[in-house]
Amino acid sequence: MFIDTHCHLSKEDYEDIDKIIEDNRNNYVDKIIVSGCTRDSIVEALDLLNKYDDVYVTIGYHPSEALITTDEDLKLLKKQLKNNRVVGVGEIGLDYHYGKEDIEQQKTLFRKQLEIAQELSLPVVIHSRDATFDTINILKEFPDVKGDIHCFSGSIETARIYVSMGYKLGIGGVVTFKNSTLPKVVEEIGLSNIVIETDSPYLTPEPFRGKQNSSKYLSLIADKIADIFDLPIEDVSKRLLENTYELFDLE
Ligand code: NI
Repeated sequence: MFIDTHCHLSKEDYEDIDKIIEDNRNNYVDKIIVSGCTRDSIVEALDLLNKYDDVYVTIGYHPSEALITTDEDLKLLKKQLKNNRVVGVGEIGLDYHYGKEDIEQQKTLFRKQLEIAQELSLPVVIHSRDATFDTINILKEFPDVKGDIHCFSGSIETARIYVSMGYKLGIGGVVTFKNSTLPKVVEEIGLSNIVIETDSPYLTPEPFRGKQNSSKYLSLIADKIADIFDLPIEDVSKRLLENTYELFDLE
């Protein structure tokens, strides 16, 4: 059995969510952790909790929302987080890929949400794109907060820094891509420091790269990791589940 530690499951991307959940069950995906990271997708993610027992959620405002997220939104977020199947804050972080015009607002939003995570003792799911240095420095301001670095694809040096700060690396479809340097990083950092995720509908693993992703492909990522460590898939899945249960304090 596997748990998808990070995916998006919105009607905007999937016509038939019942079918997605059913496909997951048929593909050894026991539970999924859906991330809501905009005003609308947070409400949508919370709604899934009423419909599906195998769904948990993390919620928090993505850096792309930095210019439009208000203190009212964050006040509401704090209330929305108080549900025992809401298991973390995220994805939150910094994204400098599309320019740096809102860099100060991004940092402020990131810090405010880390404060919330600290206050509520919840793990965080970090989105960091082209912003490694600032992400690390801001996380260091909150040494009590732990979590995972969603969709990690950085260097071994960066991986080591995050792990030394108590974070796990969220490994997704990129690890299956041809010419990816991620397998080497995964091997060096060790099985105890990673969790797996699809980040669906994005980043579909090989051999389905380019098609729409969904949690049913999670086993392709787990297979690749079993390959990297040359271990039976049963051992790998057991270890990944332990990491996930521990990180998100799942029931
Ligand atoms: Ni995501």
